[in-house]
Amino acid sequence: MQVIRTVAAMQDLRKTLPEESIGFVPTMGYLHAGHASLVARARLENACTVVSIFVNPTQFGPNEDFANYPRDEERDLELLETNNVDFVFMPSALDIYGAEKNTAVVHLNTVADTLEGAKRPGHFDGVCTVVAKLFNIVRPKQAYFGQKDAQQLAVIKKMVRDLNFAVKIIPCPTRRDPDGLAMSSRNVYLSPSDRATALLISRGLGAAKALWQEGQRDSALLVDRVRQEMAHGNFAGIDYVELVNGEDFAKMTEALPGAIIVVAAKVGQTRLIDNMVLE
Ligand code: PAF
Repeated sequence: MQVIRTVAAMQDLRKTLPEESIGFVPTMGYLHAGHASLVARARLENACTVVSIFVNPTQFGPNEDFANYPRDEERDLELLETNNVDFVFMPSALDIYGAEKNTAVVHLNTVADTLEGAKRPGHFDGVCTVVAKLFNIVRPKQAYFGQKDAQQLAVIKKMVRDLNFAVKIIPCPTRRDPDGLAMSSRNVYLSPSDRATALLISRGLGAAKALWQEGQRDSALLVDRVRQEMAHGNFAGIDYVELVNGEDFAKMTEALPGAIIVVAAKVGQTRLIDNMVLE
């Protein structure tokens, strides 16, 4: 496994790689089994796999956890080595954004303006801008994103369509701990009692899905079912529980197949998101 620390070195390396078969997994590090599943899929479907680790400052709001975001380079590199990754791209923020303020920003209307976009202004501009840069530097054939960040996935897919990036976006299922909690680097912040509260999110989503499987299609009732379960916990705040269309994240009144129930809530200081696709 080769670690590449500069944009120039990554671009030089890229020229030597086969055009047709590069799988790319962009990450912010502090890797877990969810990331490992993206890597495994990329390895299976491509001749060579590039993973990036870059805690992207521009996707964090001023009062968010950029400074404290968990980082463990040594452990991450070990995990990637064990998972037979070929190349790890770990640029600095200065190298990615340059010494002057980066004035080119990729902004998507509609899908990036609701829910996460509304609660975290500028977040998807940061995500889209860095992912566009990474796509231009790595020029992958296929790129792998977790369904856990469902709106991010929809935003990236739309950016790729709108800007004609020559990359195929491959969605990968959310990985969960045995108790049902969706894997996230931020779970490390949770105390045992926080975790007990956090678990009510996946429990609520599971209960709503069971109702949907029994034939319930009224989105208000399905959303209520999630909220009922979450009412047993000690959330610091619930940002939203909504049933939306998986393409543009518009709210739906009828829960047609492919709809997603999305949740964002704060447990202690930790903001968690999760979702359930109804299919
Ligand atoms: O999902 C993430 O870890 C990040 O948002 C991403 C896609 C690596 C962009 O910084």
